Amino acid sequence: MPLRQTQPPHALDPAAQPATELIFGEWYPALRTEGVGRGKSTTALLLGVPLLVGRKNDGSLFALRDLCPHRGIPLSAGWFDGETVQCKYHGWKFEPCGGQCVEIPSLTQLDTLQPTKIYAAAYPCREADGYAWVFLPEPGVGRLHDETNLPRVPEVPKFSAKFRTAHLQADLPCNVDHGIIGLMDPAHGPFVHQSWWWRSAASIHEKTKHFEPLPDGFRMSSHAPSANSAPYKLLGVYGEAITTTIDFTLPNRRYETIRAGSKWFASLTTVTPVTPSSCRIDVVACWNVFYSVPLVPALARYFGAKFVRQDQETMVEQAAGLRYRPAMMLIDDADKPAKWYFALKQRRLTGKGEHPLPGPVELHWRS
Ligand code: FES
Ligand SMILES: [Fe+2]
Repeated sequence: MPLRQTQPPHALDPAAQPATELIFGEWYPALRTEGVGRGKSTTALLLGVPLLVGRKNDGSLFALRDLCPHRGIPLSAGWFDGETVQCKYHGWKFEPCGGQCVEIPSLTQLDTLQPTKIYAAAYPCREADGYAWVFLPEPGVGRLHDETNLPRVPEVPKFSAKFRTAHLQADLPCNVDHGIIGLMDPAHGPFVHQSWWWRSAASIHEKTKHFEPLPDGFRMSSHAPSANSAPYKLLGVYGEAITTTIDFTLPNRRYETIRAGSKWFASLTTVTPVTPSSCRIDVVACWNVFYSVPLVPALARYFGAKFVRQDQETMVEQAAGLRYRPAMMLIDDADKPAKWYFALKQRRLTGKGEHPLPGPVELHWRS
């Protein structure tokens, strides 16, 4: 029986949470594009930057900083006609892909000011796996004139032409570091994710996992999945050897790929900073297992949502404690991946230091 059934309301206030340093110069999923049809726009907050994200009549997506360069009113207060964004205050018009100002209604023949020399801040924006991915450059880096040198937009790996897709998301009232180390934490499984269909606390047993370094992260090397995980057992019906690989790469990505012959399941989980003290977890999963079995997509969504909710509830509870800024402990070996994450992040932010994994390593824990 849990000691406490309800949460004090303050636990949900992200502003009460300790902030963390953020990694700019990366693609982050700003929002799901499902509701952003042609001629539509919406707002999002990403790394503390307010965004206006929309889709032009020709289908192209754009992301503007949601602040008019004239006097700072949110552009989302104005109008978008599918071609240009017009500010509500003095009617300046902007071409949203690039942010160039195309009209200042108050100008007369006598004015020499050229509107086209003025820009609203615009960010590279691409669609992949149902998300609008936005590239936020380091603060102080001006407008990106050349988008060709940007890193590739992250995507779920796919291994067949036909597959199903499901999305999940949950807001977490803690900073991105806690969201990420919660994601790679093997020891919470038997406690947070107890359920008849997944595993029980009694199923806990010793495990050995092999890890290897990736350029900006690390990989749990290809292995046969945990015998105490029911969904993995299900894949056994195909009678093929099952292997799973889990990658973590900066700034916030966890890729999991499970393969059994020609059958596969792959997911990309990201924890994205909404502000320096709050974040959101997004999961997109694709699979071709049980492709033609009815109800499987609905069931996957149901159980997946339940799984993410268990993490979310736990982090809401954790947030109630974190607001008192307690000291933190990371123990070997179960918290080793979390230590690697902090070392990798520090290395990225400072441009100094070694990769925390000198080569392949073996970790042991009970879960
Ligand atoms: S504040 Fe936007 S046009 Fe003046
Ligand atoms: Fe979890």
